[in-house]
Amino acid sequence: MKAIVYNGPRQVNVEEVPDARIERPTDVLVRITTTNICGSDLHMYEGRTDFETGRVLGHENLGEVVEVGPAVDRVRVGDVVCIPFNISCGFCANCEKGLTAYCLTTNPEPGMAGAAYGFADMGPYNGGQAELLRVPYGDFNCLVLPDDAKEKQNDYVMLADIWPTGWHATQLAQVEAGDSVVIYGAGPVGLMAAYSATFKSASKVMVVDRHPDRLAKAEEIGAIAIDDSRTSPVDQVMELTDGLGADRGCECVGYQAHDPQGHEHPNMTLNNLVKSVKFTGTIGVVGVFVPSDPGSPDDLFKQGEIAFDYGMFWFKGQKIGNGQCNVKHYNRQLRTLIHEGKARPSWVVSHELNLDDAPDGYEHFDRRDLGWTKVVLHPGELS
Ligand SMILES: NC(=O)c1ccc[n+]([C@@H]2O[C@H](COP(=O)([O-])OP(=O)(O)OC[C@H]3O[C@@H](n4cnc5c(N)ncnc54)[C@H](O)[C@@H]3O)[C@@H](O)[C@H]2O)c1
Ligand SMILES: [Zn+2]
Ligand SMILES: [Zn+2]
Repeated sequence: MKAIVYNGPRQVNVEEVPDARIERPTDVLVRITTTNICGSDLHMYEGRTDFETGRVLGHENLGEVVEVGPAVDRVRVGDVVCIPFNISCGFCANCEKGLTAYCLTTNPEPGMAGAAYGFADMGPYNGGQAELLRVPYGDFNCLVLPDDAKEKQNDYVMLADIWPTGWHATQLAQVEAGDSVVIYGAGPVGLMAAYSATFKSASKVMVVDRHPDRLAKAEEIGAIAIDDSRTSPVDQVMELTDGLGADRGCECVGYQAHDPQGHEHPNMTLNNLVKSVKFTGTIGVVGVFVPSDPGSPDDLFKQGEIAFDYGMFWFKGQKIGNGQCNVKHYNRQLRTLIHEGKARPSWVVSHELNLDDAPDGYEHFDRRDLGWTKVVLHPGELS
């Protein structure tokens, strides 16, 4: 099968690799028709993780079931399914509590919890930027889509990761109706957090970034754009909240946060959140942070440590929640919002490419080139 293979920093290629296949009785085999490039792929693409060369990328996957293992009962050949980026078993202590991002059985590395497709440190599983994908525990992991799947596949594919993740940011931040919310990062995840906050009837959604195209997307859904290359985002949020700070804050950037000139400061968004969220406010962090980052220009962060403004965070009595999104906790309800015509998360999509054009898509998306807000790849077509 054809797949996107990681061959080293900023080097991905379309290659022929052995077909994905059923390996265990509980597996489902999916012919991928839509698969996205994610900001998480970029951490790997840039060589800022220990993702192994030769592996297939892709964790935001949708397609048609072409084969099921003998122990699969619910999912059928022909079903169109969206697959959460988390690979989870459904029966461990964490999965039972809905914490599928921290599954205790699917990551073979001792002492690690959580697995994902085509992801650094999340198990040996190949990704779905390919013609075929093996889905472990298919009955548990596949979200079967309704009959409008074909016409809405660019919406439904956002259920694999970024919409649930944006929603998760607002859950961790405890966003409620009437709240003011500040979101750092207007990448696909930050835009989905803004979308989610809007669904939850936030009174004011402020989105900080410096890319005009991404900020314009935020404005399309009624958010207030704050360009931090022109103004201090903290001052701006204070001004918009009568000097109090936002009720809630979301971090949707991660450890490669940088200033508008491009210099990385892994603590930048966290400390800006502490400053721009009110006393007793709550903060949700879904941007990825890692236990070590040898390539970091910041000495502390080489060991995964951050100069976090804990004194002010404590003084303000704030709370913080963080981590990978438990996609299965949200994807069913969000699917229904799409099916009923209440939501159209594909509004973030800027480019639809064939698998052959993926290396080019990676280059543009990695440079955050103007207009490249979200790239969707189509290795095949739904029948
Ligand atoms: N927790 C999860 O389950 C989960 C799931 C998906 C993605 N992620 C992570 O979320 C993060 C965002 O993903 P994405 O796809 O939107 O990526 P992205 O890289 O496209 O977007 C990040 C945006 O942040 C902006 N930014 C950088 N520094 C900033 C700063 N100091 N202040 C404000 N904005 C700043 C960039 O300009 C960019 O537009 C990544 O770290 C990704 O790995 C986490
Ligand atoms: Zn993703
Ligand atoms: Zn589990």
